[in-house]
Amino acid sequence: MSQDNAALDPAATADSQATISSEIQAAHASYADAVAAGGARETQPRVDFAPYRSSLLRHPTKSLHHADPETIELFSPAFGERDVHPLEADLTIQHHGEPIGERIVVAGRVLDGDGRPVAGQLVEVWQANAAGRYVHKRDQHPAPIDPNFTGVGRALTGPNGEYRFTTIKPAPYPWKNHHNAWRPAHIHFSLFGTDFTQRMITQMYFPGDPLFALDPIYQSITDLKARERLVASYDHELTSHEWSTGYRWDIVLTGSNRTWMENEEEDH
Ligand SMILES: [Fe+2]
Repeated sequence: MSQDNAALDPAATADSQATISSEIQAAHASYADAVAAGGARETQPRVDFAPYRSSLLRHPTKSLHHADPETIELFSPAFGERDVHPLEADLTIQHHGEPIGERIVVAGRVLDGDGRPVAGQLVEVWQANAAGRYVHKRDQHPAPIDPNFTGVGRALTGPNGEYRFTTIKPAPYPWKNHHNAWRPAHIHFSLFGTDFTQRMITQMYFPGDPLFALDPIYQSITDLKARERLVASYDHELTSHEWSTGYRWDIVLTGSNRTWMENEEEDH
């Protein structure tokens, strides 16, 4: 891009990936020093994480207000087990044709901090398509929408806390945090407890993604092991002959191995 074009393109004046990456490395180095000096390990993302530029003015600065679930239930809707059909866990059959892309199964279990299964848990997912494009209007980057793929599904966990989705492997996509910023491929997960005050939101990633090191959302979790808990494993037992590949990902709701959860709903 020429200097003339750079003056017209706001993204060209934004921070470079090198700047973002060096800030990530500095934050992680100071975290490692703190842990080495006896500091506590972190399991959750830092809300005030400078490389994640677009969150700096909108992250919570006060502790969250805890609402009384009993009161909330007087006003908000509730759902029952019969409201979720098993076919809603298959994101590849929602239209007349087959979606484009690599068909995958994503399966795992929802567990509490003691490893006990959480049954009857509503698990919702949303994701970009095989070209890295979401269907919503705010996503306008030049990648094709797939008329046969919406990218939204849901399921209830079984008696052993198990869930299973059939979908299309999402692609990385650009976002506006800094110049030439790309998100690693991911699937958004939402979990409801037994009422609407217990919603938790997180993201699942795919093993070996070359964008991990560059992504300030993924790297806002300063602890390596906590980050790695967001990455699914390839599982050949979940792979079906001439049909789909399989990934396994367990979600831990509480305790020291807790899966990272967003404080607020994110749309990246
Ligand atoms: Fe996303």
